Parts: sequence; structure tokens; C-alpha cells
Amino acid sequence: MLSPHTIALVKATAPVLEEHGETLTRHFYQRMFQHNPEVGPFFNPAHQAAGAQQKALAGAICAYAANIDNLEVLGGAVELIAQKHASLMIKPEHYPIVGENLLASIREVLGAAATEEIVQAWAEAYQFLADILIGREAQIYREQGAAPHGWEGFKTFFVTRKQPESELITSFYLEPVDGGAVPDYKPGQYLTLRMPSPCGHTTMRNYSLSDKPGQPWLRISVKQEPGDDTGKPEGFVSSYLHQQVRVGDRLEVGPPCGEFFLDLEESHERPLVLLSAGVGITPVLSMLLSALERTPGRRIFFLHGCLNSRVHAFRHQVDALAAAHPNLTVRYRYDAPTEMDRLRSEGSPVSEGQIDAELIESLVPERDADYYFCGPKPFMVNIYHQLLAWGIPASRAHFEFFGPRQELERSTE
Ligand SMILES: Cc1cc2nc3c(=O)[nH]c(=O)nc-3n(C[C@H](O)[C@H](O)[C@H](O)COP(=O)(O)OP(=O)(O)OC[C@H]3O[C@@H](n4cnc5c(N)ncnc54)[C@H](O)[C@@H]3O)c2cc1C
Ligand code: HEM
Repeated sequence: MLSPHTIALVKATAPVLEEHGETLTRHFYQRMFQHNPEVGPFFNPAHQAAGAQQKALAGAICAYAANIDNLEVLGGAVELIAQKHASLMIKPEHYPIVGENLLASIREVLGAAATEEIVQAWAEAYQFLADILIGREAQIYREQGAAPHGWEGFKTFFVTRKQPESELITSFYLEPVDGGAVPDYKPGQYLTLRMPSPCGHTTMRNYSLSDKPGQPWLRISVKQEPGDDTGKPEGFVSSYLHQQVRVGDRLEVGPPCGEFFLDLEESHERPLVLLSAGVGITPVLSMLLSALERTPGRRIFFLHGCLNSRVHAFRHQVDALAAAHPNLTVRYRYDAPTEMDRLRSEGSPVSEGQIDAELIESLVPERDADYYFCGPKPFMVNIYHQLLAWGIPASRAHFEFFGPRQELERSTE
């Protein structure tokens, strides 16, 4: 346990760290990549370029410091971080590297204010949190290895099918090269792809599983991230998958992970509200497919927004589900409908605009429901604020953000 003196020192210095938080962690990353280039491949270069990871770690440290005498409130954050770390195969031997570089950066950035006593207190506090994460991550690795058809680390899969779902999104069906079955997973979870990067190392990306569990494959559905004429590069992995990967090719796949999943055991009395925008449809589609099968008769609302019909993925599949299941209500919103989209027929589930509170209220009979949502930042911020304003408890407002979550939380402050 941490001593009361250590706790007091950490709490006293937390505001200073918060003030210097982003500078501190930016410095930390520069230092770490210079002194320990071996950890570089764990980090997503696009998140570094956008500054998102700097914010994530700064945010985590400050939150930890502010709550060091009440770690209960960090419970959810610990699970999120441990799942993310496990998806990227972070191991106990990596913690001293991060710890040493972080403490050196605290010294360098705070200068004279960083007394030995303060640095020592932070060293103890870092180790305390590191031990919690290392423990939970070890448990996740053990469970992944012990699960039927599970594995630890990366396993080689064939791409057995490549299916365009819209002009931008393509599904990849993955089956193990050893001919074995795939493990069960929770609808909403994601896997990790590892592939060679342009700088001669490897790079990793998470992709949500878009099909229901229990199939002979793991399916991911990937949006091609286009470049633009301002010099923004096209997304590296998504472009590689779309343009280079063919049926029969091999990919390195990490086991399913993640704490955003549909709890099939929760009360089925309340309606289930599944909200998505753009490629955020992937985890909630898996939830929809699973809920229809595993909780028959439950009232389900599936609301999806995208630009227009050209980029609207899985429309035929979801329409067919709606036709077959009277307990399922489906609506789509297009931001920028095409001329053809505007000529829609009477009774069409499509309307112009975005998924918003008004649409949800007009369909869902009561606010007391279980909400799951995923999409780009403005969509997430909007829905999150709305659910909070309605007094929906956090335990019923579940979300996945396709990037460091702190980035999202900061933009909701
Ligand atoms: C839990 C989770 C689940 C996910 N599920 C899905 C899913 O189901 N489907 C899906 O398509 N995606 C999903 N993602 C996102 C996915 O992991 C990738 O981030 C996405 O495919 C983009 O990766 P990329 O390598 O193609 O792009 P990157 O090369 O990582 O680039 C990402 C963006 O940053 C820009 N960029 C890159 N480098 C720079 C730079 N130096 N300067 C300025 N801009 C830069 C690129 O132009 C691009 O817009 C998920 C992410 C998470 C965390
Ligand atoms: C006590 C120590 C640590 C804390 C508090 C911490 C905290 C975090 C947080 C908050 C995130 C963002 C999670 C999300 O929202 O997606 C994250 C992601 C990450 N962490 Fe850690 N971390 C710690 C140790 C480590 C170590 C030892 C490594 C190993 C090199 C590591 C590597 C990563 C990577 C690679 C990511 C994903 C980054 C990306 O998206 O590019 N972390 N961590």
C-alpha cells in the first residue's frame, strides 16, 4: 500500500502536473522513443501526430493523482486501459521503460519544483498503478489462451472472403490457417491486426468484430481512410487492406478484446437502443445480430447515420432483419443525401439529417433503456451529452470510440 505521506505528496502535486500535463507527456514520448525505440511499434503514429495519445496519458496520470486515495472511481478506466494494452500485447517488462522515462520527464520539465521526495512519491504511485494494470493484463492473457479455440499473442489467419459493403467499407472474413475454429467473443469486442509498417517495423490497429459470435470466421469491416490534397496521407492499414490484401492472403491477428460489449444477461425488459454513425456501425451490428438471436422479443431500436446511400454499409442486411423481426425498429439518417436518396418512397426508414435526441425520443417509448453507441467524435459528444441530460446512468450508456477515449472525454468537458 502507498503511505499516507506519498498519497499527500502526489495529491499536492497533481494540479501542477495537470497544468504541465501535455508538455510533460509530449516530452516523455520524445524521450522514450529516442532512448527505447523498441516500444515504438506499440504506438499508433496517427494518434501521435494528432496529439491524442499525449492527452490520453496526461489525462490518466492526472485522474489517477486526483483519485489516489479513492481508486474505486478509476475501476472503469483500469479495465479500458488493460483491455487496450492486452490488445497490443503490452507486457510487464515494458512498464519499467515507461516508468523510467516518465519520471525522467517529470524531473526535466518541472525542474527545481521536482524535488527527490516528489519524484520518489510519483515513482511509488506509478508502480502502484502499474501493478494493478499488470495484474489485470496477465489475467486477460491467461483467459485468452485458455478459452476454447483461443490463443495468446498473434495467430495467422487466411482472408477467406472480401466483401464490399459500401463505396468506403469492405468486410474481411478471417479463418485460422491451422484449420481450427475461432473463439467465442462478446458482441462489440475488437481484434488487433499486426502488419509490416513502412519504416521496417510492425504496426497494429484494432478492428471491431462486425458479425455475430459463433460463426466459423472472425469478420472485420474496414473503412478506407482517404488522403486529401492538403497533404493528409491516406490511412496506412485501411488502404493496405482495401488495395493490397486478396482472398487467400495471410494476416496476423490478436485475440478478441475490449470492455464495450452487449451484456446479454442484462434485463431484457428495457428496450435496447443501438446508435451508430459511419463505420461506427461495426460493433453495434454485431450487437444487433446477437440480440435478435439471443434475446428474442426484446424491443430493439437500431438508428444509423451516414452521408448517403453510397456509403451506407449493411443496409440490405439490416432491412431484411427489420422485415423479419417485428420487435426491431430501424431508422437511417443521411447528412448529404444524393438526388436519388431524396426521391425515397413513402414509409422509407431514411430521413435527412443526423441521429439526434428528437429522433430517439420520437421512436423509443421511454428513456429508461440500455444505450450502446459508436461513431465519429461529434456524433459521440452529441449523444453522450444528450444521455447525460436525460439522466441516463453511466451503467446504461455504453460507448466505443475508435481512438483514445480521453480525447473524446476532453471534448465533452
Ligand atoms: C476499438 C477500436 C475499434 C475499431 N474498429 C474499427 C472498425 O470496425 N472499422 C474501421 O474501419 N476502423 C476501426 N477502428 C479504427 C482503426 O483501428 C484504424 O484507426 C483505422 O482503420 C485507420 O487506420 P489506418 O492505418 O488506415 O490509418 P492511419 O495511417 O492510422 O491514419 C489515420 C488518420 O490519420 C491521418 N494521418 C496519419 N498520419 C498522419 C500525419 N502524420 N499527419 C496528419 N494526419 C495523419 C490519416 O490521414 C488518417 O485520416 C477501430 C479503432 C479502435 C480503437
Ligand atoms: C501506469 C502505466 C500506464 C498508464 C496509466 C497508461 C494509460 C493509458 C491510457 C489512458 C491509454 C488510452 C486508452 C484508450 O482510451 O484507448 C493507453 C493506451 C496505450 N498505452 Fe498505456 N498506460 C500505461 C503503461 C503503458 C506501458 C508500460 C506501455 C508500453 C509501451 C503502454 C502503451 C500504450 C499504448 C501503445 C497505447 C495505445 C496508444 C495508441 O492508441 O496509439 N502503456 N495507456
